Amino acid sequence: MKILITAGPTHEPIDPVRFIGNRSSGKMGIEIANKFNKESHEVYLVIGPTQQLNRVKPQINVIQVETASEMYEKCLEHSDADIIICSAAVADYRVKNQSTEKIKKEGTLTLELEKNVDILYELGQNKRPGQILVGFALETSNLIEYTKGKIAKKNLDYIVANYADAFNSDLNKVVIIDKDSNITDYDKKTKVEIATDIYSKIVK
Ligand code: CTP
Repeated sequence: MKILITAGPTHEPIDPVRFIGNRSSGKMGIEIANKFNKESHEVYLVIGPTQQLNRVKPQINVIQVETASEMYEKCLEHSDADIIICSAAVADYRVKNQSTEKIKKEGTLTLELEKNVDILYELGQNKRPGQILVGFALETSNLIEYTKGKIAKKNLDYIVANYADAFNSDLNKVVIIDKDSNITDYDKKTKVEIATDIYSKIVK
């Protein structure tokens, strides 16, 4: 099967030297890609800026991007995949008027932000019959309640929910919820082990 996976953060430029980003390392998405690759699937990994590329198995097709817009464009090129897993921590906003010159400091600086495309939502709206779409949810509170709402909103088959302390860690604790609201609660374990759990849940 052809598998499309998004991973890592996106960086949204403020000026030529600065950006808005987040603490995502890309490790979870990379381990999911490695697991599908190990099971002989054709894997496309669209990944934002990361220090973890050395973990990616050589057979995987790696597509490096910087911004949410670039990530969306690359996902569209591979949206015919049998399974799409969006684990990227996509920046919800970008700077409206990016400066082409480095911004000089003068008192207060106000940045106007505009919404980025919700890649997962768009893929969900264009999902073809039989295609499996998996999202991730990351919250600091009310994890299950907030996550359940996203399954219908984004037309998902599964969602993997985790708390923000997973960022940059080798360990994670996840809950997988399917579109019929069945909840599977996993123990805290390594991201390599969680990738196997996610694989087993999706590929029955
Ligand atoms: N996602 C995406 N593109 C975006 C934002 C999020 O593809 N611009 C995907 C992430 O990869 C992840 C899921 O959507 O799979 C996470 O959604 P999240 O941002 O947590 O949910 P929202 O519905 O945007 O809710 P919130 O109000 O919490 O931001």
